[in-house]
Amino acid sequence: MLIVAFLFRETRMMSTKGVLGSPKPAKRVKLTSVEPTRDELLEERKKLPIFPAKGKLLQNVQQVSTAIIIGETGCGKTTQIPQFLYKAGMHRNHTIAITQPRRVAAISIAERVSKEMGTELGQTVGYCVRFEDVSCQATKIRFMTDGMLLRESTLDPLLKRYSFVILDEAHERTVHTDVLFGVVKGAQKRRRAKGLPQLKILVMSATMDVDQFSQYFDCAPVFYLEGRQYPIQVKYSVQSQSDYLFSALVAVMQIHQEAPLGQDILVFLTGQEEIESAVHTLRDIVKDVTKQYAPMIVCPMYAALPTGQQMRIFQPTPGGVRKVIVATNIAETSVTIPNIKFVVDTGMVKAKIFNPNSGLDMLKVCWVSKSQAWQRTGRAGREAPGTCYRLYTEEEFEQFSTNTIPEIQRCNLSSVILQLLALGISDIVHFDFMDKPRPEAILAALDQLVLLGAVEKQEKVQLTLLGRQLAAFPLDPRLSRVLLGAKEFDCLEEMLTVVSLLSVESVFHTPYNKRDTAHAARQKFISSEGDHLTLLNVYRAYKGVKGDKQWCQENFINARNMQTASQIRKQLREICVHLQLPFKSCGQNTGVIRKCLCHGFFTNAAELQHEGVYKTVASKKTVVIHPSSSLFMRKPGCVIYNELVQTSKCYMRNLSVVDPQWLYEAAPTYFKRKKTAN
Ligand code: CDP
Ligand code: MG
Repeated sequence: MLIVAFLFRETRMMSTKGVLGSPKPAKRVKLTSVEPTRDELLEERKKLPIFPAKGKLLQNVQQVSTAIIIGETGCGKTTQIPQFLYKAGMHRNHTIAITQPRRVAAISIAERVSKEMGTELGQTVGYCVRFEDVSCQATKIRFMTDGMLLRESTLDPLLKRYSFVILDEAHERTVHTDVLFGVVKGAQKRRRAKGLPQLKILVMSATMDVDQFSQYFDCAPVFYLEGRQYPIQVKYSVQSQSDYLFSALVAVMQIHQEAPLGQDILVFLTGQEEIESAVHTLRDIVKDVTKQYAPMIVCPMYAALPTGQQMRIFQPTPGGVRKVIVATNIAETSVTIPNIKFVVDTGMVKAKIFNPNSGLDMLKVCWVSKSQAWQRTGRAGREAPGTCYRLYTEEEFEQFSTNTIPEIQRCNLSSVILQLLALGISDIVHFDFMDKPRPEAILAALDQLVLLGAVEKQEKVQLTLLGRQLAAFPLDPRLSRVLLGAKEFDCLEEMLTVVSLLSVESVFHTPYNKRDTAHAARQKFISSEGDHLTLLNVYRAYKGVKGDKQWCQENFINARNMQTASQIRKQLREICVHLQLPFKSCGQNTGVIRKCLCHGFFTNAAELQHEGVYKTVASKKTVVIHPSSSLFMRKPGCVIYNELVQTSKCYMRNLSVVDPQWLYEAAPTYFKRKKTAN
């Protein structure tokens, strides 16, 4: 392994302000999309490493009830295996479910496979993700998020519709996939016991602890698919980097200047805002007419990016241009990006962390695991030898944990436990988990559900009527609680709006170079009561102009996210109709909305201490208001928030001003207990 001082040299390069040659505007580059025909796709597919293994694979799968399949990213597991099974008739006219941890992956792969099969999306091949089901009774290959299959299992615990469940990207160990392992394994056993048709389980990944998985699935056999992997040079940073975002930009610009064009770069960062900022900075740098940079196409890639924009990364790079893709860990294994020669790995990932002692669930930027780092590295050697620049030292790398800790051991479990209870599984502690969640985390989640009124503990833990209603919504139980609580406050119409808007990424659109204008345009929506009412104002104005696109543009509102929110609202409304909730509007009496929010988020309250510094009521943690909040300048005495995000400070996001008395009224037991504890 080589250790190169590339960051040292480059820091100097970035700060040099010389004018080299005559100024010349950078060329604008556009990507054109050429749709391959089905025959061309077939030719491409035949070259996939999985193709020669088809016969043997099918033969093996025929003989067993559960199998584990390992093969390099891009070898064809996700797109080809379901088609092989279908074409061979092994699905026995039932449906094949393929789960994905990410909705983007489920959608884009379903699109790809329906194209390969020459069928209309939503017919033989379809997908089902939260708030969007593009499939029908006739669908035989159904890509779904793990969360959706889990939800479906609460209605049909034996998963009778399916002959195959393929648990893909198993190494990611999302909470939903982990719970599905147990649920699907249980369904397979019970079907066998009842003499029902067999349910076959395939567990797939590019990398995983094979022994652990095989053992868990009753010694299931493991099939290794030959992959193509070219040698990759790994270059570590010679010293620790204090600002990984800056270092990443420097590394990209150095590669851009030194490496021949036509060799693309993939950069791993942690989240949407950071990625957008990096993308704009890079575009600005290459636009600099005083320097003669070769043309560069810079594409962001993260889960919340509109699908159309995501598809740009798969389009071939024109000659004489370099493509740079700035992505989250989504590009580690679940999507395959062609033509990557260089990987720039910051070693960072945004992960959900839950502290059962404080009851706090938050997003935190932290180091990846060694196995993640190797997956990132692997992206550079798919089609030819490549190079991976690690923006951390080799000593730092040695400190990384070997594998990623399963999400189930580090996040709030209330949502999953609610679903397990709805499945009729009350003995959570003895559920067949591959890795058990910490007992404190289970207790903390049960406690939260009891406080929300969803669960009662008598001889055994069980759902209340309210709990069953909460489980009907595909939402965090706290958000569902707020919707159910709205009937008391006659504000269900408004609450549906607020909850739907909280379920999409930001409704505000802030172009990098028009920040001030966007900020000024936004002022008219700002409510002194907080972000929830600001969101409501935006939605009311949006509906007032019937969702006019021009209006959205002028007001810097993200039209697409607003549309999505409207669709989500419609679906949540249907669930409310089903539950016979009264649809009432509170009109201008918006205080009740904030009161109602307290019924779901009483554990997320914070009090002002001094100069903008708050302390959370639950655990006395020091927090501040996120700069994007409408209360950022106002600093009220007492607030509730929807989430905490830890970066340089711990920020509260999506806040409302509340009266401490409302909090007490919402959860007297909780606050009495807090008082005694203090
Ligand atoms: O699942 P695995 O990582 O083994 O591979 P896959 O997702 O089945 O992808 C197989 C090949 O299909 C990749 O190498 C891509 O070239 C191609 N593909 C694509 O072009 N567009 C997609 N949306 C998905 C896959
Ligand atoms: Mg795959």
